[in-house]
Amino acid sequence: MISTERIQPNVVTVADMDAEDALDLINEAEEYKHGKKAELTRPAYAANLFFENSTRTKTSFQMAEMKLGMHVMQFEAGTSSVKKGESLYDTVKTMESIGVDIAVIRHPENEYYKELIKHPGLKIGIANGGDGSGQHPSQCLLDMMTIHEEFGNFKGLKVLIIGDLSHSRVAHSNAMMLNRLGAEVYFAGPQEWYDDELAQYGTFGDFDELLPKMDVVNLLRVQNERLSGAENGAFDAEKYHQQYGLTKERYNKMKKGAIIMHPAPVNRGVEIDSDLVEAPNSRIFRQMQNGVFTRMAILSRILRYKGIM
Ligand code: CP
Repeated sequence: MISTERIQPNVVTVADMDAEDALDLINEAEEYKHGKKAELTRPAYAANLFFENSTRTKTSFQMAEMKLGMHVMQFEAGTSSVKKGESLYDTVKTMESIGVDIAVIRHPENEYYKELIKHPGLKIGIANGGDGSGQHPSQCLLDMMTIHEEFGNFKGLKVLIIGDLSHSRVAHSNAMMLNRLGAEVYFAGPQEWYDDELAQYGTFGDFDELLPKMDVVNLLRVQNERLSGAENGAFDAEKYHQQYGLTKERYNKMKKGAIIMHPAPVNRGVEIDSDLVEAPNSRIFRQMQNGVFTRMAILSRILRYKGIM
């Protein structure tokens, strides 16, 4: 029985989720993975509105929608009336007007969803597929599911988040939730890419000193698209790989049983040696597999709120 506290009109950030709430979503995602079937009370419709590029989040939400028995509306931002200057609100309201129940949105603006969800006239459910460098709740929850599946709990686990911390919505969401779930969070990477806001969740340290003690090594993609022109010009991929990349030498120093994670897309040879992407203790493709089930659980929350499940 799902408690009424665990149904939500929108899933836009992990900031308003406590540990119990996240574990509830992880449990339902695991149930879906092990064969639980969804039953809808009427036909339901989803639209995936992506205003930033995506492979995983967009297709994974589509797959989750299809597995739940929802109909999926086609939408391409590049050929939509957004190009004529239509606002995000008007685009989302249009989806609602034509009968869409849930909009999954990825947008470059941090917290774009705040304006939408406080709008009294908007009844459509919103699932955040990533906002700027703010939040990536579905990625966070699929990462938590992958860790939970591996270790069975979070208490006392040592998790290192390494790389482009300041530009990463994954770093911000994961650090916050790992801390709430009782993990010990550590950060490493270029000092200029550290974000002081992260200090409330964990400790910044030296990659090579931290690595052998870690249970989870959560690599982050270098987000070239979010670097300033000067930062991009100065970025040296080979140097980064030597200083902060998971090389074969570092891989051999990892603790027995420790796992490698990366939200992908991977810059092979930069954050990680290309040969290690599918190493025995890499969970990078498992994360993608788990993403479908996590997104089924997220959508289920909204469908229950709407009385469609
Ligand atoms: N991890 C992730 O969000 O990937 P995409 O940008 O391909 O969706």
